[in-house]
Amino acid sequence: MAASLGVCRLHFRSLGGLDRFCLGLEPQTQRRCTSTIPAIKTPTGSKTADFVKKSKTFQAIQEERREQAERSVLISCPAKFSEKKFLDFFSKHGTVNKHFFYNSFGAYAVVEFSNKESIASLKESTGIPAVDHEAAVPFKSRLLSLKWPGIQSSNYPTPNFKEQSPPNIGDISNLLLQKHSVDEQLRCLTETLQLTEENISLRFLVCSLLGDIAGAYFPECIIRPFGSTVNSFGKLGCDVDMILDLDGIYARSQKKGSGLSLEYQVKTGPSERAVTQSILSVVGKCVDQFGPGCVGVQNILQARCPIVRFAHQPSGFQCDLTANNKVAMKSSELLFLYGHLDPRVRHLVFSVRCWARAHSITSSIPGAWITNFSLTVMVVFFLQQRSPAMLPTLDRLKELAGPSDKCVIEGNDCTIVSDLSKIALQKNTDTLEKLLQEFFEFYGNFPFNKASINIRKGKEQSKPEAAALHIQNPFEATLNVSKNVNAAQLERFVKLCQESAWLFQQKENLEPGSTQSNGSVSPWGFAALLAPSVASGTGVKSRRKKKTEPASSRIKNLLDSLKIKGGETVAKKGSANSSR
Ligand code: GTP
Ligand code: MG
Repeated sequence: MAASLGVCRLHFRSLGGLDRFCLGLEPQTQRRCTSTIPAIKTPTGSKTADFVKKSKTFQAIQEERREQAERSVLISCPAKFSEKKFLDFFSKHGTVNKHFFYNSFGAYAVVEFSNKESIASLKESTGIPAVDHEAAVPFKSRLLSLKWPGIQSSNYPTPNFKEQSPPNIGDISNLLLQKHSVDEQLRCLTETLQLTEENISLRFLVCSLLGDIAGAYFPECIIRPFGSTVNSFGKLGCDVDMILDLDGIYARSQKKGSGLSLEYQVKTGPSERAVTQSILSVVGKCVDQFGPGCVGVQNILQARCPIVRFAHQPSGFQCDLTANNKVAMKSSELLFLYGHLDPRVRHLVFSVRCWARAHSITSSIPGAWITNFSLTVMVVFFLQQRSPAMLPTLDRLKELAGPSDKCVIEGNDCTIVSDLSKIALQKNTDTLEKLLQEFFEFYGNFPFNKASINIRKGKEQSKPEAAALHIQNPFEATLNVSKNVNAAQLERFVKLCQESAWLFQQKENLEPGSTQSNGSVSPWGFAALLAPSVASGTGVKSRRKKKTEPASSRIKNLLDSLKIKGGETVAKKGSANSSR
């Protein structure tokens, strides 16, 4: 829950956008390895794509991963060790299903057993350490340290450590420049940035470890990840958004027979929000004082959505724990569903998010910036506008829902179909290059001054309030998910869209760049869009012939060149937007 909360992140303010993310200063995660979704070619048929037919439901996937995490342990390893001996040791407690190693201020391993009993056996043979000059909190978690007696041999073959940090901007650009088309570049970008299978497992394990702590108070609780960890748009380095789910407790309370019955005596609070705040406050305190590896715990309970924020050092994740936030989980399911309907959706979202971050349109610091969540909804809306439409409206997803999909949260009907195979897609063969270019043209021209973005209807609606940017909350129709965005930030976004649309109109930018005398390739395609922008006044070093013109005339030419049908220029529309 990044920027929308109106609270401060502990981040490095002096570094900008993608640089900060690529330098690995954001919470670290593992490097790409396997995809969360198999690499699939763009579908061209009008029926439900094959990969959709085979998809499990969102809930089934979450449940499977959660159950795997409950059978897993996180191990701090010595600097040098033998993988074979490591596995022999853990196999004494049961069959090891999967394991992997990674680095995060030291070597760590995730070990997944095939049975939960193995964890109990492992714990039985594990001791509380004796510490000098201090006292240990005797909390028996599933974060363990492996002690390797004697002198460690440096001859052990090094296990395959999964890289922790996201790729840096130089590596991303070099990768993109080696491709042969913009479409290839955009697919490569997704593969490079997306969460790996191991990284997702680690995220679920961290939630499960946290669940053990919260379980000291509420044994039936579950801590579930939501947001970009599960919505299929997570990139390496993104935070772990978690929900403390207490539904299990209430479910048991509601089983009433006709005879005598008992009820728990409980304390009450003045409102649900107050109860949520007090629960998060004690769990936050427990995480702070007893949670191994949890540091920098901040209770941010006065925010619109109260959270406990902390860093989990062994994984390198920044974590935001909330409670009583079912709508956010449903929003994650909705985005997951859109992300799985057509692989182009994810490619487009990853590229737009990356582009926005490179130009500091989004930020990890809360403020008046557009958030990744808003950007994703904007991409969905744009794809609903294609002809033929690439994505169904939210109303259509509700129509397709079965009885078991019925979902009402705090009076809001959040029903959507869970079985993806029920969704028939229209035939749309647009290339990624075309989609990205037209995304920029669409929002470079969008009448933000009067229209609201509404994915429920899949149509622009009249703006109900004076906010600069109005994006209707998918499940809470009276709320605007981009209320925080001010006119200046919106104007920057619009200008950057116009500039990027213009850059894509220059054919020279769409073909592999020429190799310079020093062997480097000039930026082209998506890589050219990541270069500093004209609109932000920083100049574009590699923009060939535009180089020598003064910035003001370049902007004028740029805007003039963006002719739209009917003779009206984007420049006119852009100025209309900015005058609001
Ligand atoms: P990252 O920037 O990669 O962390 O993306 P994210 O999608 O995880 O965004 P963030 O951490 O800011 O928020 C987590 C989730 O909370 C989102 O995916 C949404 O489901 C939900 N969310 C965030 N902001 C809003 C909002 O303004 N309104 C609603 N309804 N949900 C929101
Ligand atoms: Mg997030």
